[in-house]
Amino acid sequence: MKNILEITDVNKIYRNSIKALDNINLNIKEGEIFSLLGPNGAGKSTLINSICGVVNFNSGTIKIKGYDNIKEYRKARQITGIVPQELYLESFETVWKNINYSRGLFGKPKNHKYVEDLLKMLSLWDKKDSKIKELSGGMKRRVLIAKALSHQPKLLFLDEPTASIDVELRKETWDIVRKLNKNGTTIVLTTHYIEEAEELSSRVAIINDGKIILVNETDKLIKKLGEKSIRIELKKETNNLNSNLKNKYNLEVNKNFLTFKYNIKEDNINLTEMLNEIENNGYQIKDFITEQSSLEEIFIKLIKEDKKS
Ligand SMILES: Nc1ncnc2c1ncn2[C@@H]1O[C@H](COP(=O)(O)OP(=O)(O)O)[C@@H](O)[C@H]1O
Ligand SMILES: [Mg+2]
Repeated sequence: MKNILEITDVNKIYRNSIKALDNINLNIKEGEIFSLLGPNGAGKSTLINSICGVVNFNSGTIKIKGYDNIKEYRKARQITGIVPQELYLESFETVWKNINYSRGLFGKPKNHKYVEDLLKMLSLWDKKDSKIKELSGGMKRRVLIAKALSHQPKLLFLDEPTASIDVELRKETWDIVRKLNKNGTTIVLTTHYIEEAEELSSRVAIINDGKIILVNETDKLIKKLGEKSIRIELKKETNNLNSNLKNKYNLEVNKNFLTFKYNIKEDNINLTEMLNEIENNGYQIKDFITEQSSLEEIFIKLIKEDKKS
C-alpha cells in the first residue's frame, strides 16, 4: 500500500525548552485507521498539529501525498482535515453556515450537495438551521467533524475524539470513524485508551516522552500486551488456600482477595470453571472485578523489554 503520510526525523522543542518530539519517523498508509497511543504529555497533539501546520516544528520533513507540508503548504492542507482536542466553535452561527464557511476557507467552490450529504451522514441534517450554542455536546463534536471534512480531505486527524465523553457517545464516534474510513478517508487518531486503539485501528504507534517506542499491527500488540487480571473477593479471609487450587491457577492470596492473571488472547482459559472450582472447594465468592493492564503498566513493560534488547 502507498504511504499517504511520511514523517522523517521530526523534532519539536517548545520555547520553554521542552522537547515534545524527539526524532519522529513514521509512515501512514493510504486507507488505514492508525492510532497514536500514549499518556498525557507524550507529544500526540504536538505531532498531529505539526503535520497539519498548526505547530511549527524545528527540524525534519513531513510529506502528505508527496507534498512537503511547509514548502507546499497549500496543497498539503487541501488533503488534510483535523478535529482538534479542544472544542472551539462560533456558537452564534448556524450549523449550515459554519460548515459552508469552513469549506470556503480552503478555497473550495460551493457544494451544497456535498455539505448536505455530510450533515446527513453525521445525523446533523435536522439541526442545520440551529445555532451551535443550542446543540448538545455530542452534536457539537459531530459539527467539528463536519467542519474538518468540509473541504473533502483524504486524510483526517482526530485528536482524542472520545476523551471525557460517555460510553454511548464513544460508540457513536467509533461508528462515524469506521464509516468515514469505509468511504475512503485515511484516519489518524490519538488516544490514551488502549481499548480504543484496539477497537478501531489496524496499526498503532506507542508514543511516550516525545519518542515513538514502537509501531505494530494492533492485534500483535494487543496479544503481546493483553494482560488482564481478575480480583476475586471472598466472603471470608483465608489463611491457607487449597494448594491445588492455588497452584493450578497461580493465584495470589491477600486476606480475602485472590488475584488471577491471564492474557485475553489465551483461549484455553475458562473463568467460569475456575470460579466454580473455588466455590466447590468451600470458598464463597462475594464479588469479582477484572482489570486490564493500564497503559502505564504497558509502558513500564515495554521500556524494560527495550532495555533488555
Ligand atoms: N504550547 C506549548 N508550549 C510549551 N509546551 C507545550 C505546549 N504544548 C505542549 N507542550 C508540552 O509538550 C509536551 C507534549 O504535549 P502534547 O503534545 O500536548 O502531548 P499529548 O497530546 O500527548 O498529551 C508536554 O510536555 C507539554 O507540556
Ligand atoms: Mg493532546
